[in-house]
Amino acid sequence: MTELIPMELRDGVALLTLNRPDKLNALSYALIDRLMQRLDAIEVDDAIRAVILTGAGERAFSAGADIAEFSGSVAHGADHAVRDFVRRGQTMTARLESFSKPVIAAVNGLAYGGGCEITEAVHLAVASERARFAKPEIKLAMPPTFGGTQRLPRLAGRKRALELLLTGEPFSPDHALAIGLVNRVVPHGDLLSAADALARQIIRHPPGAVAAVITAATRGLNLSIDEGLLVERAQFAMLAGREELSRGLAEWRSRPRDAAQTG
Ligand code: COA
Repeated sequence: MTELIPMELRDGVALLTLNRPDKLNALSYALIDRLMQRLDAIEVDDAIRAVILTGAGERAFSAGADIAEFSGSVAHGADHAVRDFVRRGQTMTARLESFSKPVIAAVNGLAYGGGCEITEAVHLAVASERARFAKPEIKLAMPPTFGGTQRLPRLAGRKRALELLLTGEPFSPDHALAIGLVNRVVPHGDLLSAADALARQIIRHPPGAVAAVITAATRGLNLSIDEGLLVERAQFAMLAGREELSRGLAEWRSRPRDAAQTG
């Protein structure tokens, strides 16, 4: 049977590939479940420090939820559709968003619907010049269901997001960059190396500090500033007794004199 999420591991960075190229990597239930299994295994593997997520084939990162499959759930009624389709997709994007190790989308082509929602949910994203984004659910007479009505307005601002959500019109990687959906746009051939370089700039820092930043920023964004500051405080308190922080502070104190200038 075809592996839906092949994984390659290189020096602490796991490359996961959404692998249904003949269906533009549409997010079938089985593919989502396999991605969740991969994340569960990665989370407890100390040898893996970061994840890059990309799409197989020449055309797509992902064209979104598998319409043929979820149409079947919808035909069985609201309870089925919410349980099998909506809850599964929302759980996936929430897991990516709150994952304790950095997750970087390497958007290699079409990122429509759920493909765009994955890009919204992950911590960082690099887009190929060939990427193309869209929130096309409105054309199917439905709202997005994997968090797209919630995360895009938070990222891009309400009016910019509503224009994309209400028109369903595709948009360019440069527009994705302008609205804060991706961190950078690179030539297609440089996509994976750019994502890898970004991952390595992060994983040179200790895992506890990286996880604390992700948790504080991700949880805090959905809270009031006072509650967010409590999350930040708790994350620091968790690290305060750990060797990782003592070592980081000691290394700074004993650094060579010119290290401060060279960074
Ligand atoms: N779900 C299931 N299958 C999908 C899919 C999706 N979201 N997106 C594409 N596919 C399948 C097509 O059915 C086709 O398979 P087939 O050859 O077995 O029929 C294959 O992927 C190629 O897609 P096709 O539509 O022929 O390519 P295209 O270049 O003409 O169009 C898109 C590309 C992205 C514009 C078009 O596929 C599309 O609109 N997809 C749906 C996007 C969407 O609405 N996503 C949100 C879902 S909630």
